[in-house]
Amino acid sequence: MVELRGVTKTYSNQSLALDGVNLKIKRKGFLFITGPSGAGKSTLLKLLYGEERASLGEVRVHGIDVGKLRGDRLSQLRRRIGVVFQDYKLIPRKTVAENVAFVLWAQGYSHQEVQRRLTPTLKMVGLAHKADCFPTQLSGGEQQRVGLARAIVGMPPLLLADEPTGNLDPDNALQVMKIFQKLNSFGITVIVTTHDDRLVRMADRPVVQIRDGKLHQVRR
Ligand SMILES: Nc1ncnc2c1ncn2[C@@H]1O[C@H](COP(=O)(O)OP(=O)(O)O)[C@@H](O)[C@H]1O
Ligand SMILES: [Mg+2]
Repeated sequence: MVELRGVTKTYSNQSLALDGVNLKIKRKGFLFITGPSGAGKSTLLKLLYGEERASLGEVRVHGIDVGKLRGDRLSQLRRRIGVVFQDYKLIPRKTVAENVAFVLWAQGYSHQEVQRRLTPTLKMVGLAHKADCFPTQLSGGEQQRVGLARAIVGMPPLLLADEPTGNLDPDNALQVMKIFQKLNSFGITVIVTTHDDRLVRMADRPVVQIRDGKLHQVRR
């Protein structure tokens, strides 16, 4: 499902973000990526959804060499990858339902199909009753669950989350983490970066750590 082979990423200012990283994640797997700030966690995820390109080595997602994709073919791959960010990235002037449906509209789904997918997705993240609220009317935890709904409404087989609980209090962080685990139990491959050791310890899942651009196995 996801494979990095000898991946090195050097940014144009010569900062070495990843250094010879090898990683394999099976279909339906779950992986935590930990490591201090600046270690290269976000960079690794960006390589997976094609926001950045490896300087050396190969990045494969769904069997496709991401580094070789451009334009439409990259967009097509991205539709099969859900991404969740630490700062939610919601559109302030759109309601919860619109923030989530927006992804499907952009992909040309019919009104009927959008509705058909929207309701169960909002239910899954426990926000059906907030469908008509605006982001500013929600708590941080709720906003992140909207971000999560948006990431999964297109039913991607792979979900990437970059410090999704970074701005949340422990209770909300746990709630969001439980949703990730539920999605994983439905067969979605999930990769979560975090530096919250407490969460990582609670969820009994494989963990790798990045330090100075190198990957270390912490728990299998
Ligand atoms: N767009 C960029 N241009 C230059 N350097 C970058 C860029 N993005 C990240 N870096 C550098 O790459 C390293 C890894 O960053 P990042 O992947 O964001 O780490 P993390 O997510 O673990 O905090 C850091 O030294 C950071 O400064
Ligand atoms: Mg980061």
